Amino acid sequence: MPQDTQASVWAEARAFLRAYHAETNMPNLNARLRDVEAEIAECGSYQLLSAELVHGAKMAWRNSARCVGRLHWPALTVRDLRHLREPAAIFAELRRHLHLAWNGGQLQPLMSVFGPGVQIINDQLIRYAGYANGSGDPQNRALTDFLCAQGWTPPAEPGPYDVLPLAIEASGQVQLYHLVREDVREVSFSHPESPAFAGLNLKWHALPVISDMPLSVGGLQFECAPFSGWYVQTEIAARNLADAERYDQLPAVARAMGLDTRRERSLWRDRALLELNVAVLHSFDVAGVRLADHHRVSRQFVRFEARERRTGRAVQGRWSWLISPLSPALTPIWQRHYQEDAAVRPAFLKRLPGWEGAKGGPAKCPFHG
Ligand code: ARG
Repeated sequence: MPQDTQASVWAEARAFLRAYHAETNMPNLNARLRDVEAEIAECGSYQLLSAELVHGAKMAWRNSARCVGRLHWPALTVRDLRHLREPAAIFAELRRHLHLAWNGGQLQPLMSVFGPGVQIINDQLIRYAGYANGSGDPQNRALTDFLCAQGWTPPAEPGPYDVLPLAIEASGQVQLYHLVREDVREVSFSHPESPAFAGLNLKWHALPVISDMPLSVGGLQFECAPFSGWYVQTEIAARNLADAERYDQLPAVARAMGLDTRRERSLWRDRALLELNVAVLHSFDVAGVRLADHHRVSRQFVRFEARERRTGRAVQGRWSWLISPLSPALTPIWQRHYQEDAAVRPAFLKRLPGWEGAKGGPAKCPFHG
């Protein structure tokens, strides 16, 4: 390992261990620093203790400039599965992740950290196929094409919500794994006042599990560390189903609700958007599935900022991601200003789309070979 890489691992390790010991009142910092320094000198790298990894993952969430749900960072549960590096074993634990995070509808924030040398190519564990004929989720066209090239056969009659298989890559080899129906909890949407709404057959999955962001803690990088929380209704109702480049459902919603779509100035789009949001909140509530709303999550974010400030920590933020796409000026985030510093660690890193990275093999993790 080059001297400067080793030096930067040690610098990050030192900064992280100091923060970890200070935040958790963990004693014996100096002894731990001496051990880690010696381990790096001898092996070029080091291992985090489980408790360090767990706290580091929470810090990475706390540092995520684009996440509006960060008030809950102390509640993250981390499964230390670093001993697993074999795709089939990892897939079994990904299914378990889906079940544990689901928690009977009372979704709990969960991360599963796997061993080195393997990565999940899908950007989320649950993704709907996007087809050339326009059916499905257009955002997932490239991923769908990649999976087809890897041997996946779409259903004989492609539908709008075909769950994609997972592509797991280890040592340059991609393997596909199929989730079953019980793994993928979904909520079908109905509207509390408009019976016609249910006829649109709209639905979404309950659990967003990000699977393409490496976790960086203490100078180490964990490529395979999927994590999940719960949705804000706007993600589904004001973006996934509403965006013209996604499911583009506002015209259909407007028709089902009898809105005047002849003139833009009737604001039929805005009304359809609002009713779609009402329907998603209503349907998750009726189904007993945890879901945030943009008012509550924005207030919680302001509380998070205040709490962080009291502990003397700066809060990074990216306004365009924190602000609600629905009624933004009704939330307290509207008048606030944020700054972002890419160098903050621990962090979740952005990776190239997996299907691009996969062509030349995975980016090798420098610390684990
Ligand atoms: N916006 C993404 C989606 O609609 C999910 C991002 C993570 N969201 C969350 N609430 N944890 O699938």
